[in-house]
Amino acid sequence: MGGMIEATTETIEEFLAHHSALVEDAVRKAAAAEILPRFRRLADHEIDQKSGPHDLVTDADRLAERYLTEVLGALLPGSVVVGEEAVHADPATYDAIQGDAPVWIVDPVDGTRQFVHGDPGFCTLVALAHHGVVLASWTYAAARGQLATAVRGRGAYLDGVRLLAGAPEPGRELRIATSHPDYTTDEQKRALLGLWTDGTAPRACGSAGLEYLAVARGELDATAFSWEAAWDHAAGLLLVEEAGGAHLTLTGEPFRITGGNTLPFTAARDTATAERVRELLRGSAG
Ligand code: IPD
Ligand code: CA
Ligand code: CA
Repeated sequence: MGGMIEATTETIEEFLAHHSALVEDAVRKAAAAEILPRFRRLADHEIDQKSGPHDLVTDADRLAERYLTEVLGALLPGSVVVGEEAVHADPATYDAIQGDAPVWIVDPVDGTRQFVHGDPGFCTLVALAHHGVVLASWTYAAARGQLATAVRGRGAYLDGVRLLAGAPEPGRELRIATSHPDYTTDEQKRALLGLWTDGTAPRACGSAGLEYLAVARGELDATAFSWEAAWDHAAGLLLVEEAGGAHLTLTGEPFRITGGNTLPFTAARDTATAERVRELLRGSAG
């Protein structure tokens, strides 16, 4: 159920062809109104913990999500919004990702930890998906003034310049950004430990959305993550795909935002690198 008007793939494509600029505008306005004015000026009472001291939420997260929820839902009739903070308040709202209506998947501030510490390495993530397929995405690093966009089948762009991830230069260590231990089971931890081997240079991930942008730009060779929350991955995985990269779960299928993936999964600059990282995670690298 998606309201009165039923959206089809054609109506969504039509929307994207003519109205993408309105989404871009909404993302920029959310950041200008609710996020940037609080950057490096957050008062203690504007910061709360969610599951623990490393899982923070601020007034900027809540208010930017509220703004995007109102604006995006109205832009595309029949669409619904799944936002990180709304799901925190009511986990059942996440189910819309499985539904028939087009869904806006929103992470108002990805990298809240960085945001709280005055580090510009945070972004706002918006993806538009239908029947589990991500059709378009926006990754806005407001403090850096960078906007990356992707439309399925039409490429990935950073500030209007086409992104092509390319292949890693042969003979160099693979640069891999990997999961925060908070999200990792013992079994997944064992898989991730496979990344620490000759020929790799793993490091802890920053904002997941910005790590995907780094892969799409060829500044990072791969990610290896062990959690599924769609708001962290949907936008960036489309950027990577449209820049020529690939993503694979442990069992070799592409990652599905609708869940049920075998974790960890990797996203990489090209298919060969994704396969190589998957082999490391499976402990079957030759
Ligand atoms: C988190 C960030 C963080 C990553 C976490 C994410 P949030 O999102 O991307 O860098 O390590 O796994 O959940 O909570 O800042 O939106
Ligand atoms: Ca996030
Ligand atoms: Ca967030």
